[in-house]
Amino acid sequence: MNPRDVDVLLSDVVGKPLPHLLAHGEVKIDPAALQEKVRRRFAGEPLQYIRGKTEFFGRDFYVDDRVLIPRPDTEILVETAIDRIERDARVVDVGTGSGCIAVTLVLERPDLRVTATDASVAALAVASHNARGSVTLVASDILSAFVRDFDWIVSNPPYIAAEEFERLTPEVRDHEPRGALTPGHAGTEIVERILDQAGRARVVLEIGFGQEQAVRDVAAAHHFEVDEVRQDLAGIPRVIVLSRHGWK
Ligand SMILES: C[S@@+](CC[C@H](N)C(=O)[O-])C[C@H]1O[C@@H](n2cnc3c(N)ncnc32)[C@H](O)[C@@H]1O
Repeated sequence: MNPRDVDVLLSDVVGKPLPHLLAHGEVKIDPAALQEKVRRRFAGEPLQYIRGKTEFFGRDFYVDDRVLIPRPDTEILVETAIDRIERDARVVDVGTGSGCIAVTLVLERPDLRVTATDASVAALAVASHNARGSVTLVASDILSAFVRDFDWIVSNPPYIAAEEFERLTPEVRDHEPRGALTPGHAGTEIVERILDQAGRARVVLEIGFGQEQAVRDVAAAHHFEVDEVRQDLAGIPRVIVLSRHGWK
């Protein structure tokens, strides 16, 4: 545990930012409330779940253990989508979790018509809290609940191979939803199913460390070509943009 986590939790309990606490030596706190939060943190629970929030693309999102904690890498997916998706397009976010991608897209690109899906009804309750009506939310196994087409699919799917999942830090493995992290043995199972159901839509996907070639292979097998691969700040390929051969 980072020792600064206690400062953050203290600041949350008092309801004032840390510099205020340091400047005003005497503040009344509820010791039981702070102790409970610190106990949870010592037990390994992620700070974001204890706080009930995390920042994504400069905005606070409510999170709890029903959803994956949004990661900074996923901001690259959102930036890519903002750059590439044409005006007024119909977009679906597959596996919306907290709703961070869909809600950010709607706020940054109000021209887009954004729908978000998740197989987890519990996750959709969190997304609904964050979306406050700005996004259409639909419980669906990938896109099986839809008959209509979308212009674009954006997704940060579960992509960690089952074996790798077992080696994750306990903070992630034991607290974040397993179904948000791993789709099975290969790690590309949900990507395959998204491309199976993509129709004529173009696709923006977040990919895992070392997964670029596997996703390229899956894309080629589904007759998709790779339009772009974006890297994170460490130079690791993180986002891939795909379109069906001859459908651009
Ligand atoms: C990696 S999390 C991404 C959450 C969020 N979009 C983000 O970027 O933080 C993957 C999400 O996909 C959802 N999911 C898993 N399998 C699914 C399926 N078959 N159909 C739809 N959603 C699925 C999980 O419930 C989870 O919310």
